[in-house]
Amino acid sequence: MNEPNNCPRGSWKSSLGFLLAATGSAVGLGNIWRFPYVVGTNGGAAFLIIYLILVAVIGLPLLLAELTVGKHTGKSPVSAFKALAPGTKWWFSGMIFVITGFVILSFYSVVAGWAMSYFFKTVRGLFSAETDFAAVFTGHIESSLTPLIWHLVFMAITIGIICCGIVKGIERSVRVLMPALSLLLVVLVIRSLTLPGSAAGLSFYLKPDFSEISPQTILSAIGQAFYTLSLGMGVMITYASYLSKDSKIPGNALGIIGIDTLIALVAGFIIFPAVFALNLDPSAGAGLAFITLPAVFSQIPGGLFFGSLFFLLLSIAALTSALSLLEVVVSWLIDEHNWSRKKASALMGFFIFLLGIPASLSFGAWSGFTIAGMNFFDFLDFLQESILLPLGGLLISIFVGYVWKAHRSRKVANDPPCGFNIGKWYDIFIRFVLPLAIALVMIFGLIDRF
Ligand code: PHE
Repeated sequence: MNEPNNCPRGSWKSSLGFLLAATGSAVGLGNIWRFPYVVGTNGGAAFLIIYLILVAVIGLPLLLAELTVGKHTGKSPVSAFKALAPGTKWWFSGMIFVITGFVILSFYSVVAGWAMSYFFKTVRGLFSAETDFAAVFTGHIESSLTPLIWHLVFMAITIGIICCGIVKGIERSVRVLMPALSLLLVVLVIRSLTLPGSAAGLSFYLKPDFSEISPQTILSAIGQAFYTLSLGMGVMITYASYLSKDSKIPGNALGIIGIDTLIALVAGFIIFPAVFALNLDPSAGAGLAFITLPAVFSQIPGGLFFGSLFFLLLSIAALTSALSLLEVVVSWLIDEHNWSRKKASALMGFFIFLLGIPASLSFGAWSGFTIAGMNFFDFLDFLQESILLPLGGLLISIFVGYVWKAHRSRKVANDPPCGFNIGKWYDIFIRFVLPLAIALVMIFGLIDRF
């Protein structure tokens, strides 16, 4: 039997390494690509306020729950559930996490591939003020080969890093990538805010418009909170399983949430001022990053440089999230089936690449193939957002609240003691508020969809 945190399984070299890896997982396409347009189309600051409340009320307890399960057992989800509830079928929920990681990474990698290809297109100077960016984007995602090659490249990099393990792979790369990401954010936000006419963008982003708030907005806010904090699929259980016994959970949890939220907000400060400075449409939805922004960069001074930086930023953010998605799948095979890390990363990475192929082709060659009226890409996205992640969150809160027991989780969170003590409120949230809120969201989300 593995003792918690024994060496052969590996552990973070430093607590900063863990914090960087966990925030790297949280900060991704969800912050830089998705968050700004969700805010932009859901009532700006009004949405923001609701989102912040939900992050505190639902995100924080769930994050604490995942971190304590991981730290206490020193195991990835399936093995952790087996250790805490021996002889039961609870380990099966860990299998759902593995499947979720598999599904999300398959199409996440496709979008990351778009970002990488746009980085090279921008660097090579292929865009000019005359370019029809909508046509370029549609042309790109509808074509068969190019997006697939970038999907392959992105998966190969992800596999290469995960192969090298926790310290030499993940920790070493996030130590470079996360500071780089922060620097890029700062440069871009300064560029955007100093464009003439940027103030209109700020007031659009920050002016609360409560008339836009509907039950649907609240659903989107919860969905966004889960997705952006990488909750509900055992990423945080897995990463925390490599923590040493003396690391402090509450500080790390607040750090992850704080940095993730800050970066999402800053991404909005980059995008909206720039879009308004050039009188473009802020509610362009998913095309905001790939159509509207390249158009912005083609027209502003230094646009080539800043445009390249933006797509580099997007690619780096996606990479540090992809690492955590693959790690969930790989650590399951290492812990449960004694696979070598190299074999697990290569083989699972390859299968994830294969699942991404129909997702990529679903915009072009295979667009005729639909499930419940959605193309394959949208179907996978729907599956993770409306079913897999909320279901995972529900299972974790029930497991921690009633099977392992919330007070045990709280004890782990408060040991060793740090300035911020988790009180009894945590038990109430984990046992009652979370399961109820998540179940309601799932039901309303599904009713609304069909
Ligand atoms: N949090 C990541 C993002 O914001 C996405 C993600 C979801 C990563 C679930 C891991 C697990 O892009």
